[in-house]
Amino acid sequence: MCGIVGYTGPKEAYPIVITGLKRLEYRGYDSTGVALLNSGLKVYKKKGRVAELEESILGKDLHAHTGIGHTRWATHGEPSDRNAHPHTSASGKLAMIHNGIIENYAQLKKELGNKGYVFTSDTDTEVLLNFIEDIKENNQCDLEEAVRVALKRVTGAYVILLLDADSPDTIIAARKGSPLVIGVGKGEHFLGSDASPMLEYTKEVVYVNDYELAIVRPNELILKNLGNEKITPFVTKLDMELAEIEKGGYDHFMLKEIFEQPSTIHDCLRGRLDATAGTITMSGIQNNIEHFKNAQRIIMVACGTSWHAALLAEYIIEELCRIPVEVEYASEFRYRNPIVNKGDIIVAISQSGETADTLVAIERAKENGAIIFGVVNVVGSSIARISDGGAYTHAGPEIGVASTKAFTGQLAVLIMMALKIAKEKGTISDERYKNLLLELDAVPEKVNAILKNADALKAIALKYKGASDALYLGRGYNFPIALEGALKLKEISYIHAEGYPAAEMKHGPIALVDENLPVVFIATKDSYHEKIVSNIQEIKARKGKVIAVITEGDEIIPGMADDVFYIPEADEIIAPMLSTIPMQLLSYYVGIAKGVDVDKPRNLAKSVTVE
Ligand code: F6R
Repeated sequence: MCGIVGYTGPKEAYPIVITGLKRLEYRGYDSTGVALLNSGLKVYKKKGRVAELEESILGKDLHAHTGIGHTRWATHGEPSDRNAHPHTSASGKLAMIHNGIIENYAQLKKELGNKGYVFTSDTDTEVLLNFIEDIKENNQCDLEEAVRVALKRVTGAYVILLLDADSPDTIIAARKGSPLVIGVGKGEHFLGSDASPMLEYTKEVVYVNDYELAIVRPNELILKNLGNEKITPFVTKLDMELAEIEKGGYDHFMLKEIFEQPSTIHDCLRGRLDATAGTITMSGIQNNIEHFKNAQRIIMVACGTSWHAALLAEYIIEELCRIPVEVEYASEFRYRNPIVNKGDIIVAISQSGETADTLVAIERAKENGAIIFGVVNVVGSSIARISDGGAYTHAGPEIGVASTKAFTGQLAVLIMMALKIAKEKGTISDERYKNLLLELDAVPEKVNAILKNADALKAIALKYKGASDALYLGRGYNFPIALEGALKLKEISYIHAEGYPAAEMKHGPIALVDENLPVVFIATKDSYHEKIVSNIQEIKARKGKVIAVITEGDEIIPGMADDVFYIPEADEIIAPMLSTIPMQLLSYYVGIAKGVDVDKPRNLAKSVTVE
């Protein structure tokens, strides 16, 4: 949450910073601001999107070779011009941007208030900035030292970038809990919440770690810990191209990402799954295979859509591997007192690899001796780096706020994991194993077939776009898909939606059913088919409108549902990878029909780096 960008070098800073902010807008879009350093500080900031700031400062003096920029997801203080970053210190000499939350800001604010400081915003950022300036003045030290002293007193999470009017080519940066990447160019440096702002300039990056401080100048990158000891920057080569973060002719990133799924799933399986030879190669699992085989249980931690992937993995791993699985919301797990023993396996699932709750949850578990296995999309992200082993989902950059291709990537990885462990443990028959490998291999082609029929979902979306509520029902392996379908609809169409196990609806939600309520059934041919047919009857008996996602060749449900959408036949363990695609498309088309900015729906941000 919140995107930060910085540049120092021979080029004009503003175009790099503003383009970088557009790429990071998925992280928050409540307000935008830039600070430019050129014989003094110039700060321009405004409530609203990056494009609005850009337009409002056309013609202003934007010349500078050092600059920082911020796109905000509001935490402390409503979205407004005065709460927008960068903030300037009381002396006007320092400017700072921040991603994270300073938890003890109220105490610091009180102390500074007693010294006569007056604040112009409601943010924790302005408090931290003045705290730093206060230390600098009272201790008569340089800014770097003042930052170090201040950060030792701060609790919470942060990435900060600081400019000092007296050091015209220097950016001071520090991180704890929120992501920071520094791009290393020739005589220039780039800073970003991720690597997207620097992609066309350099592929060499340094991922800054927690409790590290960077002093960044055009020809110099000094990395230190908070004890003032120097650290050698570890330069990594980026494996990402600019085209991957552009819309490529689609109206929205979300649509592009939905349609990319045949190739992203294929990329995820490639080099791992060999259906003909009957093998799955996953070094992360192989290196820990004895732990997995002997595990008394696996705990999965995740949030949101990634949590839904975990829930499906629970069903599949318990079925195929006979290992008990517990699925935990990371935000609950980190604060309760869970029983985690040495050698327990914790699987952390995250697209961004930066979700604060998931990150802290696994840090805690690691302290107790658990083995952390990361299923992560963003290469080099914090969760990937602290995991003991893992498997990347290889879905490529996901920019639309609603997760789509990362989810199917997670499912592909988790299913491969389950199959590999089951095979090693001997809990799956050879025949079932081979068949599931072939089924998994066929998923990209089947997803392609579903996408070719997307217009049918557009028509259904137009019919129901006026609904105020919706119910999503599924059983067994399709229950997590019902939850995911409801989440997708809520976040990008603002229609209230609930996902339930289809049989559970009789215990309460059925009271909502009337002739105005659309009920989406995920009712593919599986061991629950007859049962879910009965559930459809129960809804129809109460005049609910039934939209059913069913398997090609189903001759029963079309006779009772108001609308049906067919998907290709697949084994019940694999079918959720297919049935989730119509959920994504339905939400997309409803969102578009309602005029929602589906890539940046209100109140949301892509990477939730605050708890
Ligand atoms: C929903 C969505 C969110 C994320 C959640 C976890 O479409 O994208 O619910 O799934 O914020 O994020 P990651 O996977 O990055 O940890």
